[in-house]
Amino acid sequence: MATRSSDVSADTPPMFTPFSLRDLTLSNRVVVSPMCMYSADDLDGTPTDFHVVHLGSRAVGGVGLVFTEMTQISREGRISPGDAGIYDDKHIEPWKRVVDFVHNRSDAKIGMQLGHAGRKACEPIAWLRDTPLTDEEKWEVVAPSAIPFGPGSEMPREMNQGDIAKVIDDFVSGAERANKAGFDIIELHGGHGYLLSSFISPLSNKRTDKYGGSLENRMRLPLEVFRAVRAVWPEEKPISCRISAVDWDDHGNQIEDGIEVARMFKQAGLDIIDVSSGNVTSVRRPVTPGLFQTPFSEAIREAVGMPTMTVGNIATPEQINGVIAEGRADLCCVAKGHLFDPYFVRHAARALGYDLKWPKQYPAAAMFNPEPKEVR
Ligand SMILES: Cc1cc2nc3c(=O)[nH]c(=O)nc-3n(C[C@H](O)[C@H](O)[C@H](O)COP(=O)(O)O)c2cc1C
Repeated sequence: MATRSSDVSADTPPMFTPFSLRDLTLSNRVVVSPMCMYSADDLDGTPTDFHVVHLGSRAVGGVGLVFTEMTQISREGRISPGDAGIYDDKHIEPWKRVVDFVHNRSDAKIGMQLGHAGRKACEPIAWLRDTPLTDEEKWEVVAPSAIPFGPGSEMPREMNQGDIAKVIDDFVSGAERANKAGFDIIELHGGHGYLLSSFISPLSNKRTDKYGGSLENRMRLPLEVFRAVRAVWPEEKPISCRISAVDWDDHGNQIEDGIEVARMFKQAGLDIIDVSSGNVTSVRRPVTPGLFQTPFSEAIREAVGMPTMTVGNIATPEQINGVIAEGRADLCCVAKGHLFDPYFVRHAARALGYDLKWPKQYPAAAMFNPEPKEVR
């Protein structure tokens, strides 16, 4: 007997139990992980029909929460000219179209990941990597220290106090615009070597002022950003932050540092931490099979006592049920799985015998038999 999505009972698969943060309630534990799509066709941050269809179809696909890609808080904070942005009032209405579709046509909630690429800025669009930007197309790259991300990356300028103040202001304006567009949650991108992450990692932050040195100092800017954003983001709406819990480098942050980072964010009032790892330098981390990042989420959840999201190689409903039931994370982010299959959650529901509500336009889908006995 299938369990209906309207009732939560002892039989409900852990993956399909609701989860709340402040006044936000997600109908299940699966999240579309933030994924850059480089598809702002005006080359100035504006989301397009692509974003409505891309994020909208994954919302209809049954997830609890859809995250936008890393959406840049300033023009100079873009990874590439195709990045989506929230640095101008002209971006609010097109994002509102995406949000309204998700709210009106699915049971999903929608979050915006806010970011600044730091020393990973000023790259060609992903599928144009063989065509470097011309001098006219390039812009100035800023970072905690004047150390390029890798061979071929732009040499960043070390940020001064004015740059730091501007970044905080830009995050605040981005959050205010995200609220006007109707987003339910925002996530700061504090991982993967982008600006906030590059302050946290000792591999990219060699500053000698109060923003460098000890972990407490390296966390100063991310915490200043968080507090400033929290002050303008509505009280009833939660905030997340994605971090690289480890740098995968003997001289970088280890899991003990990742735990302290989470603890500092929790003390500042962060609601949930999205636990990723690495990508802080151009040196590739080891190829790691299975749920290789979930131990970091588990360690943080256990040591700090705060809700976590886990991400990385999640491919099956059994994995998600295991993670949730064993308390290794509160939410599971699926990235590549959602590129492969926008209906990842609907297929999981079918595999688990769970009766996930269809949109009102699609009830006939429940009568479709994908495995007919008679094939002719
Ligand atoms: C095309 C693509 C774009 C990505 N862009 C972002 C991004 O904007 N922000 C982010 O935090 N992670 C980004 N990631 C990382 C994913 O969110 C996720 O952490 C990673 O792919 C591992 O999850 P998976 O094994 O389910 O793909 C991206 C990944 C992919 C494949």
